[in-house]
Amino acid sequence: MDDTIKHVASPLARQTLLDSDLTRPVAGGRPIPLLPWVQVIKIGGRSIMDRGHQAILPIVDELRALLPEHRMLILTGAGIRARHLYSVGLDLGLPVGSLQPLAASEAGQNGHILGCLLAPEGVSYIEHPTIASQLAIHLSASRAVVGSAFPPYHHHEFPNSRIPLHRADTGAFLLADALGAAGLTIVEDVDGVYTDDPNGPEGKKAQLLREASLADLAKLKGTLPFDPALLEVMANARHIERVQVVNGLVPGRLTAALGGQHVGSIIRTGARPA
Ligand SMILES: Nc1ncnc2c1ncn2[C@@H]1O[C@H](COP(=O)(O)OP(=O)(O)OP(=O)(O)O)[C@@H](O)[C@H]1O
Ligand SMILES: [Mg+2]
Repeated sequence: MDDTIKHVASPLARQTLLDSDLTRPVAGGRPIPLLPWVQVIKIGGRSIMDRGHQAILPIVDELRALLPEHRMLILTGAGIRARHLYSVGLDLGLPVGSLQPLAASEAGQNGHILGCLLAPEGVSYIEHPTIASQLAIHLSASRAVVGSAFPPYHHHEFPNSRIPLHRADTGAFLLADALGAAGLTIVEDVDGVYTDDPNGPEGKKAQLLREASLADLAKLKGTLPFDPALLEVMANARHIERVQVVNGLVPGRLTAALGGQHVGSIIRTGARPA
């Protein structure tokens, strides 16, 4: 019998995908940046959105003023409603992967709020599947869009914690890095990352870290103003070399950060220059 099978030449065909020495020559290259001009901005759920109009309206004014200069993917965190959701869900025994999309929808509600306020400027809230496949066309039609910062794991979150490990900060970073974005700015209610929680019992002793490497942050004993899982994700970054954490309660900080100024804490990731 003639061999009618069409053989497809592939450099990965004859080897296990588990051996990184074998896959590196094929898979070790830097991915292309998909949207190198987009600025990704994560707006804190608890630190900004939960404070209501006093915190939200000045940020919306800043975002509006940034539109002529920057094209932006604005992603929102979940805030207090997700904390309540976790407590109810955990009490009922829901698995972590079921809590993940529920918390993501709380983050989405905050995004809808920003979308409404920026609607006169042509900015809309878009859902995860639209971000995944139609972000470019939406950002061609409008200078900015808003989305939920939570990663879309749905029922598939890692089960080693009962509270989702990968929350809004991690989701915003994963997206920014995959897009090869121009930058990621995390907007909080503190001036940046401190050696300890500035609002905690030892807060008076906490010092602001103007610049920090992942190794510096790993050494800190206390909490961080973002998901701890973000440290591991940042270590494996491909494009985003630095993230700036800024205080969104101080007018002008976000604008200055997008303008390339050092106005908060700059965290250096594991990504190497191209
Ligand atoms: N090392 C630290 N440096 C700075 N802030 C810290 C640190 N550790 C804890 N925090 C606290 O984190 C708070 C911000 O809270 P958090 O990060 O939960 O809000 P958020 O980012 O708005 O939440 P969400 O995940 O809902 O978007 C700050 O007000 C500060 O008190
Ligand atoms: Mg935070």
